[in-house]
Amino acid sequence: MAKLSFIGVLMLMGFFTSEVRVTSTDWQQAHATFYDGPKGGACGYENQLINDYGKNTAALSEALFNDGRSCGGCYQIVCNASQDPQWCLKRTSVTVTATNFCPPNYSLPSDNGGWCNPPRPHFDMSRAAFETIAIYKAGIVPISYRKVGCKRDGGMRFTMNGVDYFELVVISNVGGAGDIWNVWIKGSKIENWESMSKSWGANWQSSRYLKGQSLSFRIQLSDGKTVIAKDVVPSDWRFGQTFSSNVQF
Ligand SMILES: *[C@@H]1O[C@H](CO)[C@@H](O)[C@H](O)[C@H]1NC(C)=O
Ligand SMILES: *[C@@H]1O[C@H](CO)[C@@H](O)[C@H](O)[C@H]1NC(C)=O
Repeated sequence: MAKLSFIGVLMLMGFFTSEVRVTSTDWQQAHATFYDGPKGGACGYENQLINDYGKNTAALSEALFNDGRSCGGCYQIVCNASQDPQWCLKRTSVTVTATNFCPPNYSLPSDNGGWCNPPRPHFDMSRAAFETIAIYKAGIVPISYRKVGCKRDGGMRFTMNGVDYFELVVISNVGGAGDIWNVWIKGSKIENWESMSKSWGANWQSSRYLKGQSLSFRIQLSDGKTVIAKDVVPSDWRFGQTFSSNVQF
């Protein structure tokens, strides 16, 4: 029992049973820092979309960001108190959503400021998330993290960006595994589903002319689960608008 880790004790206590039971992976080691204010830039969660993710968000280093495929995924994080008893808060964990990219800075050494340089796994967290697991004066702390399911309020959201024959659709507020691997689109005047290509962040791209058609999306997450949001975008849609579906993972 003495050797049982904090995480082991949490699991014995059934602490995690309220987590959505998808895609829980093994615990891995990384570090965490914090920033002030919400950030969703590199995932495309602009304006009000970032608010859907609440106060616990994080920018992921290149090693974790996976060229944007990790956008919208959720990670449970605990501070490693055996490595840093001074600054880690014990018996707490926080679940953050990946909403941004933490870029490398090659002019700084990766063990002194260049925290997000490859191949380092690193979470640059919102200050609220950081302060749930550590004392902010620490600046940087060792953590353990694992991927967990995401709980969202309401349905998925679809934001229509682009122009004419070029649609860039930001898909946000996705529950379940949270991170999207494939998207198909179907206009109401088109017979077949067409696969969309991943652009940057959580933007998915189509080069069809789709004005005047209602749009349906088929979304597949990293765990293979697939959901259809039928006619979520009405035929009079315009670029810049966001639509909420009533389906969720
Ligand atoms: C804390 O870090 C040490 C050293 O990297 C590691 O062996 C240990 O498993 C970590 N503890 C937790 C609770 O993850
Ligand atoms: C990289 O770090 C240096 C030194 O702190 C800083 O001056 C520079 O602005 C940083 N570059 C980026 C892109 O953040």
